[in-house]
Amino acid sequence: MNAFTFSLNISVLLGPAFELRPLGHDNPQRFEVAAAVAQAPDGKALYGKNCKQCHGVVGNPPKAALKQYKNIATFTDPVYFTKHTHQEFIDAVTNGKGDMLASKGKLTTAEIEAVVTYIHTLAK
Ligand code: HEC
Repeated sequence: MNAFTFSLNISVLLGPAFELRPLGHDNPQRFEVAAAVAQAPDGKALYGKNCKQCHGVVGNPPKAALKQYKNIATFTDPVYFTKHTHQEFIDAVTNGKGDMLASKGKLTTAEIEAVVTYIHTLAK
């Protein structure tokens, strides 16, 4: 695939907002496309990888976690979410809280935002 077919494919994907012309190596549009993809971390996948072992697959901590961490939250309870702000969750995950280690340095700010946004969807 040469630069022209690459630009053609991208244009078809993204619609008419993108000009149909060959993109050179130094064309900033290439980097804009790459950045847009990188800015949308998958909160559900991040949760499965970093949080599930303590907070449970759907937000109900497994018995072992409940036994070990008496303050652990249950994310399936909508009432729980009325007692905390989004920012409190961001801070707790970023800096750690109680027995929960800080995610800072392990996850990016955008990833923490995505995973906290995801846990809000667990409340039923
Ligand atoms: C080692 C187990 C463990 C892991 C892994 C873990 N947590 Fe926690 N989490 C806890 C415990 C324990 C608490 C309760 C902390 C306390 O209040 O003492 C907690 C609390 C929280 C809270 C509630 C904070 C509050 O103010 O009540 C949120 C939100 C949270 N965790 C999100 C996450 C997210 C998102 C991840 C993954 C990035 C994660 N946790 C990974 C154990 C863990």
